[in-house]
Amino acid sequence: MKNLGILLSGRGSNFEAIARNVQAGEIPARIAVVISNLPEAPGLARAREMGFDARFIPSKGKEREAYDREVVAALKECQVDIVCLAGFMRVLSPYFVREFPNRILNIHPALLPAFPGMDAQKQALEYGVKLTGCTVHLVDEGVDRGPIVCQAVVPVLDDDTVESLSARILKEEHQIYAEAIRLLVEDRIRVEGRRVIPDQPGGGVAAGARERTVP
Ligand code: GAR
Repeated sequence: MKNLGILLSGRGSNFEAIARNVQAGEIPARIAVVISNLPEAPGLARAREMGFDARFIPSKGKEREAYDREVVAALKECQVDIVCLAGFMRVLSPYFVREFPNRILNIHPALLPAFPGMDAQKQALEYGVKLTGCTVHLVDEGVDRGPIVCQAVVPVLDDDTVESLSARILKEEHQIYAEAIRLLVEDRIRVEGRRVIPDQPGGGVAAGARERTVP
């Protein structure tokens, strides 16, 4: 069975959704370790309460690669196969990415390549798009740039605030993150250039595309 390592910096709702899916057998893997770079991350406390190996590895004042070497050492010690960034608010060094080639997933609250970086939901609202959503992608050496595994579309409503839009997107994040992890855990994705082709049992439309037009 594959081992997952979850990295987070905050609330941890994506981590909890992953944990629920693992417990329900929807993701055939085990969460080997949860790591936060911030001691006060609510997700870290939640991981401890849930009985996971939950570690605080401080990033403050450390060079990017020096920090990443500590995190990679912990992931290797826990025999992690797949790394899931779940609101981990740091850019990974090339060193980290090379240690887990095509084995790191990230969730981003926009339809990449639109609105990369911070405050993606606010960027979408201010830009005035009518549809936005979320993306799970493989992490490469760029920021929010690796090959896309799954996306979900979410409408922007006229009376949306950043909070209401973020909440609508978050529901979809929890769904597609589980789907993407499952595909990777089951070795069912093939990467051709920038394209991720999910192997469907029986073929068919990519599992990675999901469209919701009703909020
Ligand atoms: C999520 O919305 C995630 O997409 C976003 O941070 C939030 C973390 O929430 N990540 C990024 O913006 C990465 N660029 P959570 O801690 O409740 O999972």
